[in-house]
Order: sequence, then C-alpha cells, then structure tokens
Amino acid sequence: MIPPLADALPLVPTGPRWLEVALADLDAVHADHLHCERKAAQSALSLIRSYPERADLVREMARLAHDETRHVIQVSRLMQKREQPAAYDFGDDYAAALREHIRKGEPARLLDRLLVFAVIEGRSAERLGLLAGALEDPDAAALYASLADAEVRHCDIFLSLARDASPDTWRARAEELAAVEAGILRDRTIVARIH
Ligand SMILES: [Fe+2]
Ligand SMILES: [Fe+2]
Repeated sequence: MIPPLADALPLVPTGPRWLEVALADLDAVHADHLHCERKAAQSALSLIRSYPERADLVREMARLAHDETRHVIQVSRLMQKREQPAAYDFGDDYAAALREHIRKGEPARLLDRLLVFAVIEGRSAERLGLLAGALEDPDAAALYASLADAEVRHCDIFLSLARDASPDTWRARAEELAAVEAGILRDRTIVARIH
C-alpha cells in the first residue's frame, strides 16, 4: 500500500483558461499527450540507468514505465478513433524549466529528480482530471479519468521514493519545487498542450 503523500506537494490549481484553450483544440492536446506518456516512460527508465543499486526504485520505475507505455497505447487508440492527426514532439519547455532546478551533486540530485517527476505527475493528474470532467465523448472522458487516477498514484510513488531517499529534507524541498513550478506556470503562455 502506497501512503498518500500528495499533501506534501502543494501545487497551485490550474487556472480556468487552460481548460478553455485545451478544449478548443483537442487534436493538439491528444497529439501532445501521446508524447507526454512516452516521455514519462523514458524518464522512469532513465532513473533505472542512473540508480541500478536501488532495488526499490528499479522495480517501482520498471512498473511505472509499463503503466506509461500502456497509456501511450490508450492515447494512440483514442487518436485513431478520432481520425485525428499526430504530431512530432516539439519539446517540453515546462519540463525543461523544472529540470533546471535539479541540483548537481548526490544525494540532492536523486531527491530533485524524484520530486520534479512528482510535480510533473501531479500536474498531469490534475489536468487529465479536468479534461475527464469536460470531454463530451463518454469513452474519452472515462479514459482520461482512469489516466488521471494512474498519474495520482505515480505522483505518490515518486514522493514515497523521495521520502525514502532523503527522509529529513524531502518535504521542504517538495514545497520549494512546488513554488518553483507555480512561478513557471505563471510565466508561460497557455497553449493546447498538457503543460
Ligand atoms: Fe501516464
Ligand atoms: Fe505517470
């Protein structure tokens, strides 16, 4: 049983404008979302490459990457059903801006990587949930609700790994990175993408 740790990550709520922009161009949102899921799988696997000696992390990240590749399949099916265009990944300046706050030396680097991924999962969960509540297609709404639930669980997995890695400092750093993310969102133009 994963302890519910999300309270430790005080993310600001997404403003109402994002959902308006997203619903106005769902093709773009889904096309971007496919890449978000792919990158989530790759990020999880990259932690296994960096920390193979951490058996708990290796297994959690392998399972998480499995979830994310399943999500790629689910989003791909939705896009095909909609007969909508795909798009290349034009990069994710939101994630890049967060990654700039990952410190260099260990053990701070591991803690920050885990918490940055927790932030991305938490934000994704929130926004996929907003979409789930607003999509008119009941199948798409159900899919987004299930994806939002999965990303909540993933956020918690990253937080629990962060807690285990740095029991004394993880909460304070989670609050710092949540504040950093609030600043990144404030400075961004809102576009029809997940982030
Ligand atoms: Fe996912
Ligand atoms: Fe996830």
